[in-house]
Amino acid sequence: MEFYNEMTVSFKSLSINESFARVVVASFVTSLDPTLEDLADIKTAVSEAVTNAIIHGYEGKDGIITIHCTITGKTVTIKIIDKGVGIEDIEKARQPFYTSKPEMERSGMGFTVMETFMDRMEVESRPGEGTTVTLIKTIE
Ligand SMILES: Nc1ncnc2c1ncn2[C@@H]1O[C@H](COP(=O)(O)OP(=O)(O)O)[C@@H](O)[C@H]1O
Ligand SMILES: [Mg+2]
Repeated sequence: MEFYNEMTVSFKSLSINESFARVVVASFVTSLDPTLEDLADIKTAVSEAVTNAIIHGYEGKDGIITIHCTITGKTVTIKIIDKGVGIEDIEKARQPFYTSKPEMERSGMGFTVMETFMDRMEVESRPGEGTTVTLIKTIE
């Protein structure tokens, strides 16, 4: 039978929790015996998604971010879930260099970074309801 594992963690939308989120996902993935490069890629992608949930989803206000992580065989699927403002136009938001907060000196490269460092990225979002970003990577 194929190996299966899962975990869920929830935390407040504080920037000090970005490093916590990165480390907790990296620790969970360790069972797949990833290379340091794989781990760095996953940490970078998780950081971008969690930062987005904090500054865009909850706009710096109080909220809860949930990370749901599964491992099926050699594939890790990471969902970063917020119940914040949501995204009006997902296609536009995913474009390289698009940012709704240019005044905050955002690069607009977060989604592009997530797509580059993972095998696949999916974005589900509804204005007023929140956003779920799914990051998928197979560890060879
Ligand atoms: N969790 C989220 N909730 C609401 N909006 C989001 C979320 N994640 C991303 N966005 C929207 O998508 C845009 C692009 O995100 P990203 O590529 O990370 O660039 P940046 O964070 O530098 O603006 C953001 O400017 C924001 O408008
Ligand atoms: Mg971003």
